[in-house]
Amino acid sequence: MLIVSHRTHSRRVTASRLAALTTSFMALVFAAATVSPALADQKTIANLPTPVTENLYHPYDENRALLGQKLFFDPLLSGNQNISCATCHHPDLASGDGLPLGIGEGGAGIGKNRTIGSGRDLIRRRVPRNSPALFNLGALEFSSLFHDGRVEIDEKDPSGFDTPADEDTPTGLMTILAAQALFPLTSGIEMAGQGTENDIGQALEDIYGNPWKGVWAKVEQRLRQSEPYLPLFQDAFPEIQSAKDITIVHYANAVGDFVNAEWRSSQSPFDRYMAGEQQALTEQQKIGLDLFYGRANCASCHSGPFLTDQKFHAIAMPQIGPGRVARLEAIRHDRGRAGATNLIEDRYKFRTPSLRNVALTEPYGHSGAYATLEGVVRHHLDPVSSFERFSLRSVALPQHPRLSNEDGFIMQDRRERRRILAANVLKPISLKDEEVDALIAFLQALTDTSATSGRLGIPVSVPSGLPID
Ligand code: HEC
Ligand code: HEC
Repeated sequence: MLIVSHRTHSRRVTASRLAALTTSFMALVFAAATVSPALADQKTIANLPTPVTENLYHPYDENRALLGQKLFFDPLLSGNQNISCATCHHPDLASGDGLPLGIGEGGAGIGKNRTIGSGRDLIRRRVPRNSPALFNLGALEFSSLFHDGRVEIDEKDPSGFDTPADEDTPTGLMTILAAQALFPLTSGIEMAGQGTENDIGQALEDIYGNPWKGVWAKVEQRLRQSEPYLPLFQDAFPEIQSAKDITIVHYANAVGDFVNAEWRSSQSPFDRYMAGEQQALTEQQKIGLDLFYGRANCASCHSGPFLTDQKFHAIAMPQIGPGRVARLEAIRHDRGRAGATNLIEDRYKFRTPSLRNVALTEPYGHSGAYATLEGVVRHHLDPVSSFERFSLRSVALPQHPRLSNEDGFIMQDRRERRRILAANVLKPISLKDEEVDALIAFLQALTDTSATSGRLGIPVSVPSGLPID
């Protein structure tokens, strides 16, 4: 330990001395957009983010957040009344589900104990992507959501958002989180279930109807018929007089406010260090910080207060599972951002994830291919060989022939492998093992234990009276 700190003495001192000056320094950078020459060549320092403050977020309403909490945990919204948002975004699992690929409706339990169902209830497919953590998504800078950004702010659209529902996206949605909350409802494998099983699944599969409006109307109906919800909706929205006034947009705005209010996270050791508390980071973490903002180049994408540039990049993450494909496509690939934009140059790009609380949100990558932080960090340092060496055996997926047949498909497809690797933009970076350890230690300094299990937490019960996870 002594030797390490001695060797890196000069770098560490620079980082910590200037971290103490961060606030005034950043004010200088941002206000005047000029950096004093003495500091300009300090790559680390120039890349450090500004502190997180309240005004970086959308405002929210407490009554709407309280209603949103109930809705978020209530299985009533799912076709077969057996799964809620919280099943895949749980306070006990740092707002994720702890699984490489999620297990949607039909399963039971949460996290690693979640079962895949059996007989008629066996899940049809795995959820094609990893459930992301929900921290800080209420910040204004999040202008697109989902790994491929398919729900986006779009001022030209009458609804204010570009979404998979295009012109069927309702108006009146207050934030992008509200817009997002409409879509888990409309996924057969996530929440809706199958047409043969329930009214919501039926609306989804009705080839003569409109799947979006059909599903939302059915959910609306359930909320209107659930008497205990009415006073909560009335408290949250003054325009609601009677149950028939409740709409899917009210639902969405309440859930959006809940997610915004529930998972704010900005009290990590990293934040305390940035505010001048020298002891907040260990010596090893300071070395990691220096690498992250300097030689390892992480901050070229993981930048800003939430450690994401909000952009899309192709970094050759291994592709496992059924893949997120267009509705009638049979292939199991996942073209990432291109699935939302249809642009060839967007193939295999995924949104840079925020790294706040990342030490608690394993597995990693859009398909959950890496079980550990070390695995995904080492992938970044040498993406091509990490992709080449990747083994499906390292992924803890519950096995069943119906599901497992699809798991390795893409990694066995030579042409798709070549395309994923050709799109990669990350250049190899050579770090010593102790430097990799320091980077990982720095990522651990992004953990904010005051935030990981949410603010309101798990409700004692939900208005439908259904059991909650
Ligand atoms: C079966 C598991 C599952 C359920 C249930 C579920 N989600 Fe998700 N959620 C996911 C997955 C997987 C993704 C990423 C999907 C993608 O990018 O294509 C996601 C993405 C999100 C995102 C975007 C995060 C980001 O950084 O872009 C939000 C917000 C979210 N979910 C909220 C909700 C809400 C609200 C509900 C309930 C209405 C819900 N989820 C229900 C699995 C689930
Ligand atoms: C070219 C942009 C870029 C650079 C540079 C970059 N990353 Fe990433 N990182 C991404 C993208 C994009 C993803 C998500 C990719 C996916 O899911 O397919 C990601 C994912 C991650 C994840 C997994 C997060 C999660 O929730 O799944 C970690 C951890 C991570 N990066 C750390 C780092 C570190 C440490 C460095 C520096 C060594 C780094 N990144 C450099 C773009 C980048």
